[in-house]
Amino acid sequence: MNVFADAYSRRARSRARLSDRGFDPDAAVGGGLQILQFYELLGIVASSEKAGQSPTHALSRLALQSGLPSGAADALFLAYNQQSAEEAGHGDKIFAHAYFALGGAAPDAQQSIFGDGGAASSAVQPSADPEHNLQRLCEIAAVLGGIETVALQRVLPFVSDVCVAWDHPIGRDLAAQIRDVVRPEESRHVLTFRYVFHQLVAPRGPAAIAAYMQATNTGRAQLGSPGLDSASLKRLLGNSSPTVEQLLGKSRTLS
Ligand SMILES: [Fe+2]
Ligand SMILES: [Fe+2]
Repeated sequence: MNVFADAYSRRARSRARLSDRGFDPDAAVGGGLQILQFYELLGIVASSEKAGQSPTHALSRLALQSGLPSGAADALFLAYNQQSAEEAGHGDKIFAHAYFALGGAAPDAQQSIFGDGGAASSAVQPSADPEHNLQRLCEIAAVLGGIETVALQRVLPFVSDVCVAWDHPIGRDLAAQIRDVVRPEESRHVLTFRYVFHQLVAPRGPAAIAAYMQATNTGRAQLGSPGLDSASLKRLLGNSSPTVEQLLGKSRTLS
């Protein structure tokens, strides 16, 4: 089956599912979208969030094999391990929940912008060389940071706005979950991106800083967002490193 036929039959299935559950696929929900398009968007967000689970889990292991001082290794292990669980939560508990409520079916990994995350996590497997591992860690941290800043600045506000305009219990519940769970957790993930920059990258000088910024823009491009210039990237990265307590959330401590 070619890609167009596949997309066509996926759309026909989505229409049928929505209709079966009493939604008019062509009804407007706000944000210029119809329910069918909003449903498809939720499937993409659910499966793309879920795809973040495996690579961040692998990254947490990589952090322990990158020759870092124990404070930074511990902090990054815990931060990425926690992030892995949170991405699964965003995908499965929040966006897949809304997707299921609308269509009575599970999102599948094919809808993800990033695949199922398996290829990305195999690219994160540690080598015997700590320096190589450290470079991989920094590169992936930057790509993730680029993706997550676009999610926070563009994707989540857009989905929330559509939910508010729609004014349906499914949308109201999703908007509340985005506000209370997804946004605070994503904000902490961006702090990890800033922590890696200040602790591991900036001390290495201009070439390492330039590579980090370039990888950040590579991540933004994966969501179709334009790259940032160096002044905007510097603002995003801030002037100082977040603390370990900030990375993990206030109630979590290292010991
Ligand atoms: Fe997420
Ligand atoms: Fe995240």
